[in-house]
Amino acid sequence: MGLTPVHFFSHGSTMMLGEESTSGDYWKKCGDEALANNIKGVIIMGAHWDATGDAIEVSMNPTPGKSPVAYVHPSKYVDYRLEPDLKNGERVLKTLESAGFNVRPNDKFEWIHDTFLILIRMFPNGCPPTTIISMNARFDPHFHMRVGSTIRPFRKEGYLVVGTGGAVHNLYRNVWWPMLMYRNNFAQPTPPEGWSLEFRQSVEDVMSNNRGPALRRAITRLMKHPQYRDAHATDDHFMAACFVAGAAGDWEDEKEEKGRLGAETWELTNMCNSQFTIGSWGRAVAAH
Ligand SMILES: [Fe+2]
Repeated sequence: MGLTPVHFFSHGSTMMLGEESTSGDYWKKCGDEALANNIKGVIIMGAHWDATGDAIEVSMNPTPGKSPVAYVHPSKYVDYRLEPDLKNGERVLKTLESAGFNVRPNDKFEWIHDTFLILIRMFPNGCPPTTIISMNARFDPHFHMRVGSTIRPFRKEGYLVVGTGGAVHNLYRNVWWPMLMYRNNFAQPTPPEGWSLEFRQSVEDVMSNNRGPALRRAITRLMKHPQYRDAHATDDHFMAACFVAGAAGDWEDEKEEKGRLGAETWELTNMCNSQFTIGSWGRAVAAH
């Protein structure tokens, strides 16, 4: 097998689970392609789980529950069976430990919608074996990039690496009233503000114009963008982008397809849910 592609998905609000969107369609398409290429499992970093100090954690709860999802009917997620991959989790732990990370298993962790929203949308008929890696709460872009680069070899074995966060994701600057009053997350009563459009464009430019180590530099550098703090009031939803840059930004990845914007959904006026894929299944299929 060649190298599996890597996805950076913006999960947006919880309503992205219950409502239909082009992003939802794209997630399903990516899931279908992954299954058609016989992935061994998924390795995913989200935006809602972080470890303090200098640590990171790996999900090792054999029977994880799901944290409740606001504004979504329970029928959309309660019965979906999660599939924690303890065997691969053990290997991910060892790999990260050998690379010098202070990493530990977490056998109590309950999964959160940042990951299972995406898994349900990608794989509605059954969750593949999945390993979740936590963020570190210091939110250092280079640290999270290095977590991604450390698990990059799993792509050669047929694991699908996914980061789920947000391209523009600032809950303090969203326009919430259409959702709170009418349960309409897609209303867009006014256009997005300039800072949101500006940062969203920069994310697309960075993703689609850089490959290999240049992608790593460009993504991590986005945290110095003049509009970064407007686009991300907190850093949690940007860490998965750094993780993805690590997993898809080796010299070897310079030969891979550049990042592509597969779909995009605006919510709550200023939140831009851009969906990116780096690399492709082309080489993986050809290698069979
Ligand atoms: Fe989130």
